[in-house]
Amino acid sequence: MSIAIPAEDPRHLPNRAVVDLGAITHNTRQIAGSLAEQTALMAVVKADAYGHGMLGAARAALAGGATWLGAAHPASALALSRAGIDVPIFTWLYDPRTARELLPAMISASIEISVGSRRMLELVSEAARESDLRARVHLKIDTGMGRGGALPEHVLELGVRTREDENLNLVATWTHLSSADALGEDTTDRQIDIFDSICEDLTEEVGPIALQHVANTAATLSRRDLHRDLVRTGIGLYGYAPVPTDLDLRPAMSLTSRIAMVKEVGAGQSVGYGRIHTAATATRLGLIPVGYADGLDRAASGAVSVLVRTRAGDQFAPQVGRISMDQIVVDLGPDSAAREEDEVIIFGAPDALDAPAAGAPEITGPRLDPPTAEDWARAAGTIPYEILTSLSVRVPREVRSPAAGDAA
Ligand SMILES: Cc1ncc(COP(=O)(O)O)c(C=O)c1O
Repeated sequence: MSIAIPAEDPRHLPNRAVVDLGAITHNTRQIAGSLAEQTALMAVVKADAYGHGMLGAARAALAGGATWLGAAHPASALALSRAGIDVPIFTWLYDPRTARELLPAMISASIEISVGSRRMLELVSEAARESDLRARVHLKIDTGMGRGGALPEHVLELGVRTREDENLNLVATWTHLSSADALGEDTTDRQIDIFDSICEDLTEEVGPIALQHVANTAATLSRRDLHRDLVRTGIGLYGYAPVPTDLDLRPAMSLTSRIAMVKEVGAGQSVGYGRIHTAATATRLGLIPVGYADGLDRAASGAVSVLVRTRAGDQFAPQVGRISMDQIVVDLGPDSAAREEDEVIIFGAPDALDAPAAGAPEITGPRLDPPTAEDWARAAGTIPYEILTSLSVRVPREVRSPAAGDAA
């Protein structure tokens, strides 16, 4: 096996994805504090914790009151367990080949496993028998999402088989909501009606099942009645709310860069591939060395602003022209105080940038809140989830941990 070595020394790159673990702890605490009394919080840390770094994010969420962890891939679940994190870990997305290879290790590590088909049930049962252990199984019911999980007409049979199998311990039923963020629609209610009715039949058939879980962040924030025994929250922990909320959620990731060049141009100067932007008047353009190869969405071209931290204070600068592979151009305006090397927040949290170096001139002007992944998502016609998980390996991650006792 070969291990990739980064081709570029991160010290020589101006861009950073600054991850604030204190914000994840804070957000988890906010959400945990809003749950129904009997409800536990599963921190969803799939996709490298939505790009924030799985192990750090998992520990930060546990510090904020999460008591479960959830990861789509078994390999992530195993990595959490092997890192010595000793809480229930749930995983739900595996193919038969991966399952045959990883199930024995997963069952030995007490990882809780979703089952949504006869085939998966057999694989889990076989691996448990070979390991001489009982696997903890969560039965997944497809109530309308149409992805994984057993269709309603197959659930009873699957439930009976699971309960009768001495290698398996049926501990939960669960489903995933397709439209929990669509507050005006009745889709969620229809899914829940199906779920509740099947769970009732199942209980009659096989006896009580300890846990139910259905809610993602949107349902956690908007439907207390859906908290059940466990909520599976992801995006909220990272500071984004798919539905309106009174909770104080703070973006945990900031993408920062520095101005590489400032150029005074006259009216009529066009910018970038395809010349989709032309300066209407004389202005100052700022070149920022971050582009779609770093994870910016090219579809957002010309529709977002960045925050530039100049000596005279913060200013917004609209991004102009097409987003290129390695760079973007922003219109600083004719009177901007921005200079080369000034720091830029592409999206994120107000305190993302470094404290000024010793001897650096003091910033005297106003401080502004930077754009967010939500702003980028709106501009690109996507969702903050995709903005956060799209940052490429080319962007060095800089993880900030709160000082002890500091993560209130
Ligand atoms: C099965 C499952 N549960 C929970 C979540 C968390 O969703 P959210 O990030 O919207 O809270 C996801 C993420 O998409 C998921 O796939």
